[in-house]
Amino acid sequence: MPHRLAAALAAAGLVTAIAATPASAAPDRHGDKTLGRLAADTHRYFGSATDNPEFSDTAYLGILGSEFNSTTAGNALKWYATEPQQGVFDFTQGDQVLDFARRHHMSFRAHTLVWHNQLPDWLNNGTFTADELRAILKKHITTVAGYYKGKVYSWDVVNEAFNEDGTYRDTIFYRTLGPGYIADALRWAHQADPHAKLYLNDYNIEAIGPKSDAYYNLVKSLKAQHVPIDGVGFQGHLALQYGYPETLQQNLRRFADLGLDVAVTELDIRMYLPADATKLATQADWYARVTKACLAVRRCVGITVWDYTDKYSWIPAVFQGEGAALPYDENLQPKPAYAAIRDALRSAGGH
Ligand code: XIL
Repeated sequence: MPHRLAAALAAAGLVTAIAATPASAAPDRHGDKTLGRLAADTHRYFGSATDNPEFSDTAYLGILGSEFNSTTAGNALKWYATEPQQGVFDFTQGDQVLDFARRHHMSFRAHTLVWHNQLPDWLNNGTFTADELRAILKKHITTVAGYYKGKVYSWDVVNEAFNEDGTYRDTIFYRTLGPGYIADALRWAHQADPHAKLYLNDYNIEAIGPKSDAYYNLVKSLKAQHVPIDGVGFQGHLALQYGYPETLQQNLRRFADLGLDVAVTELDIRMYLPADATKLATQADWYARVTKACLAVRRCVGITVWDYTDKYSWIPAVFQGEGAALPYDENLQPKPAYAAIRDALRSAGGH
């Protein structure tokens, strides 16, 4: 059922829920195309992150598997999940998400190999020499990326390496190994899975500024040294109160002009609660603008929302008093943002 129609019927009290849309990102029986199908028409993906606890929610999975043509595991591939004890690897959660993606013909963005958050205690609390930590990092990357070799579209190899002012973030990796850990991580990931697209990924780099400049300079120098790097991921955790990142399109383009892919990897647009019609309209406009910015840059390969429904958004737990950040509400009903994204994709695809 087209979501507009369903929403209208729901508003009229005629139906209470949208039936799960048909499998694979194909036009549904009323001829409306899904976000995934519309993005595919422009040779891009429109994806949603997901997380393992959500796999018991069949209505949720119905929309995830039909509306989107890419997914990212929100937590399953983080270090604490994949190597909970030193040298003991666990891929059960990652496999659950990957299997779902494969069954629904969705591409899979793997997230993430090197990050300072959600590390296992043994790593956080340990004291390691540079040689020891280098060996630990190499083994982690080689084992995890090796296990998923040939099965993932891309890896976020290093996540959130810079501070807001463009200096290197003081993490266990930077502190112990120096800035060269980034090039090493990319090289090891490439050896483990030569066909995966390798990304650096961060937040607050949507606009041109000190932090995105730091990435620009880093990837330029990595390219000059022939370090394997394929793309930069712009997380896109936006908030209405901070204003729209006006230079997003220009910024995506300057990275693309370095010969890189770019992607919006964790898009959500939060607001102070309660939501109201005005805020939801502004949010919808921003979703459309981000979508159009990506569509305007040939090497912008796709957009991923950081889950698709407010039911499972990470925002309320982390940003007090904020939420309503995603294109579907807590009852899995599309919000104005959904139609705005769809219309933006449609106009680009020549529909
Ligand atoms: C978030 C997850 O969505 C939450 O479930 C978890 O509790 C914390 O991490 N930037 C990232 C993501 O790169 O990995 C984060 O995901 C959100 C911010």
